[in-house]
Amino acid sequence: MIAVFNGVNLNMLGQRDPAQYGTLTLGELESKIYEWSRAAGTTARCFQTNHEGALIDHIHECRGWASGVIINPGAWTHYSYALRDALEIVTVPVVEVHLSDINAREEWRRQSVIADVVSHRISGHGADGYHEAIDWLMQETAGV
Ligand code: DQA
Repeated sequence: MIAVFNGVNLNMLGQRDPAQYGTLTLGELESKIYEWSRAAGTTARCFQTNHEGALIDHIHECRGWASGVIINPGAWTHYSYALRDALEIVTVPVVEVHLSDINAREEWRRQSVIADVVSHRISGHGADGYHEAIDWLMQETAGV
């Protein structure tokens, strides 16, 4: 079972800059994630929130059931030490995903405070980045 977390402002996909984030809505992205997971032989549970504490509660809670985690924290990536500390407690592999290429944008987006506590990072591959993350987790955990 894979936990998929999307953070702040990702509920606005479809209305944000399509050049950076594509045209899929969050609902469409999550449908693809469910399909890709099924095809890979696993199940995903998706959660999005604009509230940092709610995300952290869900990260704590997934420790009871997830064998892998995919997270796109949105702007929290760049400054949330609370999120970083929550991910540090997770013992299963965590993949950091960004739709846009955070290294090719504003200087402040290049910093990820979670980079040192995740197992793998994917940036700039759009929605396909989540597909790659599922496949990476399946290989890493040999059947999540
Ligand atoms: C993002 C990149 C972040 O810099 C930004 O704040 C987001 C989305 C991405 O998926 O490309 O909200 O994480």
